[in-house]
Amino acid sequence: MAEYRIRPYRDEDYEAVREVFATGMSEYAPALCLHVLRQPWALLALGCTFGLLLASARSLLLPVLALTLLLALARHLLGCIWSAYIDRCLGDDLRRGVGTVGVRPVDNGGGGATDGELVLKRMSVRKDYRGLGIATALGRTALAFARQRGCRAVVLNTLMLQHEARALYERLGFRQHHRYVLPTAYGRLANCTVTTYRYDLSGTP
Ligand SMILES: CC(C)(COP(=O)(O)OP(=O)(O)OC[C@H]1O[C@@H](n2cnc3c(N)ncnc32)[C@H](O)[C@@H]1OP(=O)(O)O)[C@@H](O)C(=O)NCCC(=O)NCCS
Repeated sequence: MAEYRIRPYRDEDYEAVREVFATGMSEYAPALCLHVLRQPWALLALGCTFGLLLASARSLLLPVLALTLLLALARHLLGCIWSAYIDRCLGDDLRRGVGTVGVRPVDNGGGGATDGELVLKRMSVRKDYRGLGIATALGRTALAFARQRGCRAVVLNTLMLQHEARALYERLGFRQHHRYVLPTAYGRLANCTVTTYRYDLSGTP
């Protein structure tokens, strides 16, 4: 069993925390590309492009090359969008290890949470320290923090790609609350489904 200590965030942790979170989230970029590629509109666009090029060219080479180029461009574009999302997350509330977790009072965009509830954010554990129960310990620390402050519930959002995280939260006792498609142009285009989880603290000791 690895030894670790959970302690409050300090300003000098910024670079380490940034690296842990950004690396953890970057792992989802390939899965995000595959998810977008499986969308009906993407398959249709690729199929039509291929068909048109095949009909106008005399060989298979041009359509295959064009499709490869198109896929590489799409991969690059999605990578940029995902990196911008990570930077925005960090800029929002991690301005200033091994793993990180944070909670903050709910704001209007808190994914279904209301006053007296906390939103759990930035759960991430370095790859070489995974499977050791560190995220479980971080999650329990966040729940104990909320309980001590008399909060009613802790809520959080996960994306459809975050299977390990969803298993973690369910194992911690969070329950699926509701599900929606990310209400942005990119979210709708990529069919990014967000699942909100909720841990009800009322009635727990
Ligand atoms: C999700 C994450 C934080 C889990 O960290 P961890 O320290 O490895 O988790 P734990 O060792 O505490 O595991 C707790 C539970 O999580 C689930 N889990 C963790 N890794 C898993 C995996 N690779 N596959 C399936 N379930 C997994 C299991 O339910 C596990 O319980 P078990 O060991 O009894 O089966 C880590 O994989 C990570 O940092 N991922 C990238 C960032 C991310 O997705 N963050 C979540 C944002 S919402």
